[in-house]
Amino acid sequence: MSARLVVAGSAAGQQPWSRETPAQDQLAQPWWRSAVVYQVYLRSFADGNGDGIGDLAGLRARLPYLSWLGVDALWINPHYPSGGADGGYDVVDYRAVDPEYGDVSDVEALVADARRLGLRVVLDVVPNHTSDRHPWFQAALADPDSPEAARYHFAPPSEQPPNNWRSLFGGPAWSRTPDGRWYLHLFAPEQPDLNWRDPVVAEDFERTLRFWLDRGVSGFRVDVAYGLHKDAALRDNPGEYSPTLFGHGPEQAMTWNQPEVHDVWRRWRAVCDEYPDTMLVGEVCLADLDEVALYSRPDELHQSLSFRLLKSKWETPAFAEAIGSALEAFGRVGAPVSWVLGNHDKERMVSRFGGGETGLARARAAAMLLLALPGSAYVYAGDELGLPQAHVPDEAKQDPIFHRSGGERAGRDGCRVPMPWNATSGVGFSPARSARPWLPVPAEWKRHAVSRQTRDSGSVLHLYRTALGIRAEHPALGSGEATVSTRGDVLTVRCTGGGRTVRCVVNMGTGTALVRSRGQVLLESGPGVHTSARSVALPPDTAVWIEES
Ligand code: NOJ
Ligand code: CA
Repeated sequence: MSARLVVAGSAAGQQPWSRETPAQDQLAQPWWRSAVVYQVYLRSFADGNGDGIGDLAGLRARLPYLSWLGVDALWINPHYPSGGADGGYDVVDYRAVDPEYGDVSDVEALVADARRLGLRVVLDVVPNHTSDRHPWFQAALADPDSPEAARYHFAPPSEQPPNNWRSLFGGPAWSRTPDGRWYLHLFAPEQPDLNWRDPVVAEDFERTLRFWLDRGVSGFRVDVAYGLHKDAALRDNPGEYSPTLFGHGPEQAMTWNQPEVHDVWRRWRAVCDEYPDTMLVGEVCLADLDEVALYSRPDELHQSLSFRLLKSKWETPAFAEAIGSALEAFGRVGAPVSWVLGNHDKERMVSRFGGGETGLARARAAAMLLLALPGSAYVYAGDELGLPQAHVPDEAKQDPIFHRSGGERAGRDGCRVPMPWNATSGVGFSPARSARPWLPVPAEWKRHAVSRQTRDSGSVLHLYRTALGIRAEHPALGSGEATVSTRGDVLTVRCTGGGRTVRCVVNMGTGTALVRSRGQVLLESGPGVHTSARSVALPPDTAVWIEES
């Protein structure tokens, strides 16, 4: 059987094209192939002890909410002791918990509570770099000849840095130690890159995986999975550095995507295979989707996140290309696509899609698309509330991207603002209203509060919950196969599974679209959809799920 991926061109002159891909195995699917994974930015989710910082106790207390919502798993952003230079992605101790968040017994209790509610817990692991406060780096600073120094990339003192590599957060990728040596950091200077050619590094990370797997976690989201190894001779990159945060190409061929990294994922896969039902999902920010998919070959990571939708403009050609090319690339290696519309690094989708009522209507329609597509879906905490990007005053900003670019780049604080749980002055983030959240919550966010939305059957929250409920029961949604097509401003994804077919139709234009159909409308993303015996009238920025009869 083959999945036929067709993007039908419209009269407006789009190129018709079609592709063939192998079908995905429909038998005895492991949970992660079609899971809805809810991303918890721990610091911003729920504060249990009143210090204004989200923590494990707060998350535990809110697990019933996630179970009510209907997701399958949660992925928690880094919970480790950290230098605090990059939102926890500068880890000091990989086998411990930052006291701000709790301790190891809190992770165990979280896993146990989650399991009782039918939820799985996935942790974040950060293997490309440590914190500069990690004991290894501290030992390396103290003694250039120490074994720890060999676990990083140091170069002897010289006038110029060893090569032309740039940090993703701005400036050169090399900084000096107090004794004049250079060390490599592809992110902030507080995040020295590990030397994965030193076997101790690999051994230590495998210990870390087992440490958490032994505590019952269901896997890991792997940070910068396209990194780790660097060109063995640390040669200059061939091209002009392009200052995009994600999506690296041949111009950075010496820093990313080295062939040796695939061996690491084969070893990690073997570790996970010892623990039933666990999985690895990689962050692979490469421009070439075929290269991204290679990280999800059957003996490597189970999945790699696909950021195409997250980067697509609200236009049918862009969305169709994002969907079609991902289905094709991942289909070729037999992996499901892991769809993403938002995360802690990107502007919230309501704002990305234009903001205000329009942005919200589009975000609602996009959510229905996300939840219809075959594969796993990653939902960023707060997207189910339709949160826009928050305005964070410069003096409150914490992101190194803002500070290292001298304020030129806004940074990522605006998508990391704490969750509004209720409509009180502290929005219910902390137990005491007087607690000051670690990032300021806009006063108007009370209107997005969970407590308000649970009472409003027309809310975004109810849309997500209803969509998740239908998806969980319907064999054509979230698994099976899909074809994507466009007709002018109308995008259609035709999902089939279990002998049934559901069309997710999205009107991305400015006028009402008439969709011919004799089927049954299962769900609408917004008001104003009119159904007759032969057609469905779809207002702009609206999606429907239609079960074909
Ligand atoms: C990707 C993470 O998502 C981002 O938040 C972090 O800054 C970088 N990796 C560096 O660890
Ligand atoms: Ca706290």
